[in-house]
Amino acid sequence: MFDFFEDLPIIYNYKKGGSVMLLGVNIDHIATLREARKSFEPDIMTAAILAQLGGADGITVHLRQDRRHIQEQDIVALKNGISVPLNVEIALEKSTVEFIRTIKPDKVCLVPENLNEITTEGGLNLLSKKIFDRTKEVVSLLKSRKIEISIFIEPDFKMIDLAKTLGADAVELNTRKYSECENVEDIEKEFNRVADSANYAHYKKRIIVNAGHGLNYENVSPITQIDEITELNIGHSIVAKSVVYGMEKAVKMMRDLIEKG
Ligand code: PXP
Repeated sequence: MFDFFEDLPIIYNYKKGGSVMLLGVNIDHIATLREARKSFEPDIMTAAILAQLGGADGITVHLRQDRRHIQEQDIVALKNGISVPLNVEIALEKSTVEFIRTIKPDKVCLVPENLNEITTEGGLNLLSKKIFDRTKEVVSLLKSRKIEISIFIEPDFKMIDLAKTLGADAVELNTRKYSECENVEDIEKEFNRVADSANYAHYKKRIIVNAGHGLNYENVSPITQIDEITELNIGHSIVAKSVVYGMEKAVKMMRDLIEKG
């Protein structure tokens, strides 16, 4: 297994300058925990506000077609209750697009969706004519509501070209492959693919570059060295950390209640 702290210097030399990257916190898995019991807790708004207090520059949620975590009412509550931009990930499916048009979040990220997947598996395949044409329709429907559009794609020049042709404001580069690599050569290769794509998208295509998927406390540092990336979207790892780091306090609160009788 690759050890980021031991082996980091190999890729850590990537030049750093410019401004600090923004952090979009994806809180889907707060809702996953709630939906596991069809309960009212954990409360999504409280989580979003605490994420803001921790320094989140944006809140991201994925309204999946199977509604396995985030529900329509969560989007409405977040839209009205947070003070940082709300970014909603959606597939190209008609009723979800219609719902999102009425809610008008600040940003939408278009993602592929496979009903049996555990999480988003890859970027939108814009090489498929059917997907390209439908994405074009959806971009136009959402842009007419003045929503900022990003398209989740693999870090690939051709995909960046196609996203630009579609009129997207931003691309979100999929870092899943980078985050799943287990040896130094593969990590370096995938890191370079993300860095080269970010550079191409920013300087040659003049499109906003975001990145995300699978980033965590161990693998994020090299990615923060890529100056052309504006924002990182990170979910599972932050929610997982919050559950563990909040455990001591949560048990103490319950103990207090028990002791008070
Ligand atoms: N970006 C996109 C487009 C995603 O679909 C996801 C997962 O919902 C993320 C970022 C965040 O990924 P993770 O939960 O692995 O941090």
